[in-house]
Amino acid sequence: MIAIAHTVKEARKYITEWKKQGLSIGLVPTMGYLHEGHMSLVKRARQENGKVVVSVFVNPMQFSPNEDLDQYPRDFDADTRLCHENGVDLILHPEPPEMYPDGFCSFVDMTGPTAELCGKSRPIHFRGVCTVVNKLFNIVQPDRAYFGQKDAQQLAVIRRMVCDLNMSIEIVGCPIIREEDGLARSSRNKYLNEEERKAALILSRSVFLGKEMAEEGEKDARKICLAMRRLIETEPLARVDYVEAVDFSTIQKVDAVQGETLFAIAVYIGKTRLIDNFIVKAIS
Ligand code: PAF
Repeated sequence: MIAIAHTVKEARKYITEWKKQGLSIGLVPTMGYLHEGHMSLVKRARQENGKVVVSVFVNPMQFSPNEDLDQYPRDFDADTRLCHENGVDLILHPEPPEMYPDGFCSFVDMTGPTAELCGKSRPIHFRGVCTVVNKLFNIVQPDRAYFGQKDAQQLAVIRRMVCDLNMSIEIVGCPIIREEDGLARSSRNKYLNEEERKAALILSRSVFLGKEMAEEGEKDARKICLAMRRLIETEPLARVDYVEAVDFSTIQKVDAVQGETLFAIAVYIGKTRLIDNFIVKAIS
């Protein structure tokens, strides 16, 4: 039977017992409203660990006051069912006061990789992500933690944090999971009405176009970004936040495809901000 912990103390009881038994622990941190994308992380964690923990916590600290914290979709019963079906051992589902009790005033802040892309339009976002992920790591003490490549900047930021702060946790990045028509799976897709859902395909179409150009040997990252941007601008419901090429580990802008280059886009479809990306490895 799947266990559910609402407090740090309850979670620790399970973790302590599993550590005593010498079992490895895989953690999948989520904000709930789980879908196939999350389940691909769970499946990988299931293959590689003795026990699998999923955290379901809509983290207020990573939302700015003008963002969608209150509307963010939640369905804990459906999340529990999916986790159960996919062999999760424990769901950690705390309320905000459990994670941020009165007097809370410690944060994990990062410069460098947080300055570009989503860090520009969401200035406090990564401080919230790093702080909560750090707390989840301390609570669950996983051997491995699983993150989707859809949030590629987040993945790079977490890898940097783990390296900089000497955490002995393996960070496993997992591929983007797409709907049949190409749209990257995201809890925020729920916000789209029928017309917007169709318009949102412009993100994956632009990603596929850029990827094809890179795979055909185009090395000029600016040309690729421009072609992607132009395509997005043909969709009347779309408004570009950014289309950028950056080094995948430092998240600093690059003009040419070199090393591992991340092409990342953020686009508003109506009021909904969606992201997508692809990574190319330069052949040296
Ligand atoms: O990617 C997410 O869902 C969140 O940013 C995370 C990593 C669970 C932290 O709240």
